[in-house]
Amino acid sequence: MAEGQYSVRTMRGSQMSLIPAEPAILGVQTPAHRGAVFTRPWVVELVLDLAGYTADRDLAGCVALEPSAGDGAFLGSMVGRLLVSTKAYGRDIADCGSALVAYELDADSAERARAMVRSVLMGKGVVGPVAERLATGWVRCADYLTEADPVAADFVVGNPPYIRSEEIPEETAAYYRRCFPTMRGRADLYIAFFEAALRQLRDGGVCAFICADRWMRNQYGGALREMVTGGYSLEVLLEMHEANAFEDEVDAYPAITVIRRAVQGRTVVATAGLGIELADGALLTRSLLEGRAADGIHGLRVACVDTWFHGDSPWPCQSPEQLALLRRLEDRFPVLETNARVGIGVATGNDGVFVTTDAALVEPSRLLKLAMAKDLGEGVMKWSGHYLVDPWERDGLVDLTAYPRLQAYFEEHGAALKRRHTAVKNVRGWYKTIDRVTHSLTQKRKLYIADIKNVLEPVLDCGETYPHHNLYFVASAVWDLEVLGGLLLSAIGQFFVESYGVRMRGGYLRFQAQYLRRIRVPEPGSIPASLGIELVAAFRGRDRARATAAALLVYGISREELEAAIGHR
Ligand SMILES: C[S@@+](CC[C@H](N)C(=O)[O-])C[C@H]1O[C@@H](n2cnc3c(N)ncnc32)[C@H](O)[C@@H]1O
Repeated sequence: MAEGQYSVRTMRGSQMSLIPAEPAILGVQTPAHRGAVFTRPWVVELVLDLAGYTADRDLAGCVALEPSAGDGAFLGSMVGRLLVSTKAYGRDIADCGSALVAYELDADSAERARAMVRSVLMGKGVVGPVAERLATGWVRCADYLTEADPVAADFVVGNPPYIRSEEIPEETAAYYRRCFPTMRGRADLYIAFFEAALRQLRDGGVCAFICADRWMRNQYGGALREMVTGGYSLEVLLEMHEANAFEDEVDAYPAITVIRRAVQGRTVVATAGLGIELADGALLTRSLLEGRAADGIHGLRVACVDTWFHGDSPWPCQSPEQLALLRRLEDRFPVLETNARVGIGVATGNDGVFVTTDAALVEPSRLLKLAMAKDLGEGVMKWSGHYLVDPWERDGLVDLTAYPRLQAYFEEHGAALKRRHTAVKNVRGWYKTIDRVTHSLTQKRKLYIADIKNVLEPVLDCGETYPHHNLYFVASAVWDLEVLGGLLLSAIGQFFVESYGVRMRGGYLRFQAQYLRRIRVPEPGSIPASLGIELVAAFRGRDRARATAAALLVYGISREELEAAIGHR
């Protein structure tokens, strides 16, 4: 199962499909248990504490919402806190009909949640009829996503359902997507819960969820990230991959997020390790709110980040130390593309036809020296004798009648070439490669980077070859490419791609142009000459340790800081 996808390993009851959002439109009615993964009490207490739903506040004057109540794990504790607060503030619980709102789609769960509410109230001396009225009023058996009141909430807390897009009936998913535009593409249902919750917050209101954290990095989470960075403040991000958060074992990578409708301030980023549930709850909360690890809490790592990401860019969090360093570097240095161009080599759609080692295959002017990933093997560009059979000239595709040997060669392979998607789309250009060739790139000095490798290994091409499609290139009129090569070769270069990149199965790191473009490097002119010389020497000698020593000085960070950021992944 792919990272972050939820599936209940230990099934609780039957697994049934989701009730459609609009039965009138969709015409199906089945009760739901899907997505029912219940939260352990220690997590409930932590989420409520982090949200600030605490009995020392006048909770009777607030509106708190639980959008997917299940059997009432959050609700029970919320009612308990509300009761204590009413006593402290001289309020009557009987008047608190508007203080809590809970939704639950499944009738049986909703009834259990009401029973939980009644039992908490009556256990604290609330008389039966009042307990009954409050329980019935607070817990609604309904779809939060379609029936939530537009009431402005001070708190939205809970554990939204874990339902993957392919498990939602298509019409229902389409309906939710129309109502909640951040739920794009193959987004899981929880995205819509986040959007609904965030929209519902009054100014200063807070949403605290324990939920899958895939959306922080993946493509479908982009619109939600943009919503958060555009109008909210991410106050706490507590990664819980190792922690024992749920009653059932799940294939899940959850995190607690505390998001306030406010201008973004500092963010506390933390990781909760195995056994964290044994920690003292008050100490744990204080640590997280203050943004520093406390003695006596085993398995908690905490860092404070002064500024957060912008727009829809991913939030790559592998450890608090890594994220804190990444944000610092991102704040202080411009992206690589400010002074360099990052691109990818030519894709052909049929390398068997377009790539050759036969120097006599067609007219010599139609053969372009091609750099392949294997040519970089030793860290030095060593051309392996491959050519691109090149159908391009400056103004577009060549006129084949001007190159009879090229024409004969392409026509010999015409059937295969015409089957390619790119040729079907452009029938007249049936002999084109997928990407156009920009010949001026060949003569430029440039760095090559192979797209799947364990380490960032930039290699210099002195203007002799054109890159094949599994090579990225970095070209620049401003940089001394050997200085830049030294920075990229260093452990700091590696730190960036490890932060942004994706590790494939088997441990391979997949670079993509978008990740390379986000790498931060100093302005070339700001690098002292002596460090420039060091970086060039390190690059030429493929000496990563020497490159790292110079790069640390250039970036102004300590070795300890870098090691802490790299070490915990
Ligand atoms: C992950 S469980 C969490 C339950 C509870 N909050 C807890 O933490 O133990 C999610 C619950 O959401 C309910 N649910 C699913 N879709 C819903 C919807 N559209 N509106 C309200 N509840 C929904 C499920 O029936 C399930 O009980």
